[in-house]
Amino acid sequence: MKKNKSSKNWIIKQHRDQYFKQAKSSGFRSRSAYKLLELNKKFNIFSNCKTVIDLGCYPGGWSQILKKNLKNCKILSVDIKEMEKIDGVDFLCCDFQKKDSKEKILKKLNSKADLLVSDMAADTTGNKDLDCIRTNAICAEVIEFSSSVIKDSGVVISKLFNGQDFLHVKNLAKSKFHRVNFFKPESSRDYSKETYIHCAGIKTL
Ligand SMILES: C[S@@+](CC[C@H](N)C(=O)[O-])C[C@H]1O[C@@H](n2cnc3c(N)ncnc32)[C@H](O)[C@@H]1O
Repeated sequence: MKKNKSSKNWIIKQHRDQYFKQAKSSGFRSRSAYKLLELNKKFNIFSNCKTVIDLGCYPGGWSQILKKNLKNCKILSVDIKEMEKIDGVDFLCCDFQKKDSKEKILKKLNSKADLLVSDMAADTTGNKDLDCIRTNAICAEVIEFSSSVIKDSGVVISKLFNGQDFLHVKNLAKSKFHRVNFFKPESSRDYSKETYIHCAGIKTL
């Protein structure tokens, strides 16, 4: 297949990138693995975790990190793309944004989760504003869904973009959780508007 100039530039940048090189030599499937490690360092999200859901898991870097760091923990990983098997990780192939997918996720769990992590991002369209709106809509859907799938003491980490609808997501999270923070890992590319929301402690009525 003939590659265009911008995809060639992306491949060159990727190969010069320290996290990409590190991930390759450590056997991680994605450089994103380091983002989750940094998120844990910042928020200590792995402690006392017995059930975790990894939304948007493909190719599996975050699931590898979860498996490595969480002992005796049920891990349910979900993506619209088929993920190559990781021992000890349950995988569900579905589109999170479909209603029956949320029912399938709930059915797969024996108990509510302690931690829900989402690295889901909408497919890029070339229109940055539209990509931002669509990814932030996914993040809002993750926050809405979290109240039915995590414990009251549970934690949510979800990717979002610092742009349109960011405030909407922030206000939604604040209406549902006692603690809401944002963190951009160093391993997240400088030029990307990507950041992560950390929500903890569901507000019960
Ligand atoms: C940045 S990648 C995740 C990388 C992953 N955390 C890792 O470390 O390997 C984002 C993933 O979100 C998935 N995704 C986006 N929208 C989705 C949806 N509606 N349902 C399920 N997966 C979705 C994509 O298929 C893609 O694999």
